[in-house]
Amino acid sequence: MLNFEFKNPTKILFGKGQIEKVASEIPANAKVLMLYGGGSIKKNGVYEQVKNALKNFEVVEFGGIPANPEYEILMDALKIIKSENITYMLAVGGGSVIDGTKFLSAAALYKGDSPWDILKNAIKTEVGLPFGTVLTLPATGSEMNSGSVITRRETQEKLGMGGPGLFPQFSILDPEVVKSIPQRQLANGITDAFTHVLEQYMTYPTGASLQDRFAESIMQTLIEVAPVVTNDPANYDAAANFMWCCTMALNGLIQKGVPGDWAVHAMGHELTAQFGIDHARTLAVIAPSHYRYNFESKREKLAQYGKRVWGIREGDTDAIAKAAIYKTEAFFKSLGIDTKLSDYTADFEGTAQKIAKRFTERGWLGLGEHKRLSPADVEKIVEMSY
Ligand code: NZQ
Ligand code: ZN
Repeated sequence: MLNFEFKNPTKILFGKGQIEKVASEIPANAKVLMLYGGGSIKKNGVYEQVKNALKNFEVVEFGGIPANPEYEILMDALKIIKSENITYMLAVGGGSVIDGTKFLSAAALYKGDSPWDILKNAIKTEVGLPFGTVLTLPATGSEMNSGSVITRRETQEKLGMGGPGLFPQFSILDPEVVKSIPQRQLANGITDAFTHVLEQYMTYPTGASLQDRFAESIMQTLIEVAPVVTNDPANYDAAANFMWCCTMALNGLIQKGVPGDWAVHAMGHELTAQFGIDHARTLAVIAPSHYRYNFESKREKLAQYGKRVWGIREGDTDAIAKAAIYKTEAFFKSLGIDTKLSDYTADFEGTAQKIAKRFTERGWLGLGEHKRLSPADVEKIVEMSY
């Protein structure tokens, strides 16, 4: 097992009726900026619940944060934070609203020239403007981690940022929000969380037995609840398990003491930036090719996953590892998620070269758990995903 330090300061309030507790988590004298997305919270009752809970606070609202939170729009919110002297933020939404709020948390206290530098230069935020979240879409784990991914449409860039100052102070996880989530987003959430586990698990054995079993149990639970929650998002138990799996998949716990890959996400973000494909779907496009291309170095973990998560018994290590990749692809397809780039765009020629070139320009010369996946490898993997 590798050495590690682990601190996750986010307080979780999980379950039915928890949204009203938002008031007791925010400092009494705070001036609050409530941030949300395109309006789903106004249709499913979450907006009213939050507004009621905040009735004794001074609240300014900022709605309209789009999926794949957009830098220019967030800059409008930053102006409000400064002109209204906001002291606390509350993100009410999915990963996009929460990530947007994290960017604002960093940007509000940033002393440099342009907040874009936080992304461009991967500046770690040690202290941010405090914020909490009310999660409406289980998927990213952003509600209990310190990472954020921001898009800049004019340059077709999608870059990550983070730092210990960007954990939410609290997150409210009420599984009842799941019942209004459209099928497309449910499938995305399951696929994203599943791939988060894979990124931290599908590397090489390090003798971290507990972390492996944490990871396997999250994947097994996602496989179990996926058909239930997609057939009936109002099934509370399925929704609750789905929600907690998504949070646990990316709150740091399963990453401790083990190597991380994260190359699937690095390539996937480029597909979102270029084609606007939903984040989770880009992962389903890249992951199978990534595991086939890196088969030799991932064989042991692929076979362990095949046996323990999919119950594959037939064949030697190679055969089980190959079958495990096939099972993963079939799982994504069972959710209605297409797994080839050409399923999403006819304009895919040249994508692999473009991504490889961008990685070279950014100095991303060695990705993956061994830090040796070069832009030339990336080009081949993306090409295999066409
Ligand atoms: O905008 P509204 O109207 O609220 O609608 C949203 C949006 O259209 C809708 N939605 C959310 N909750 C709903 C709902 N509709 C009905 N009922 C509800 N209860 O769902 C749509 C998608 O929302 P979004 O927040 O974009 O989805 P998701 O949570 O999948 O977030 C995706 C973003 O997170 C980033 C992705 O790159 C992408 O930008 N990620 C963030 C990570 C992190 N911070 O740790 C890790 C991930 O790997 C990922 O990169
Ligand atoms: Zn993801």
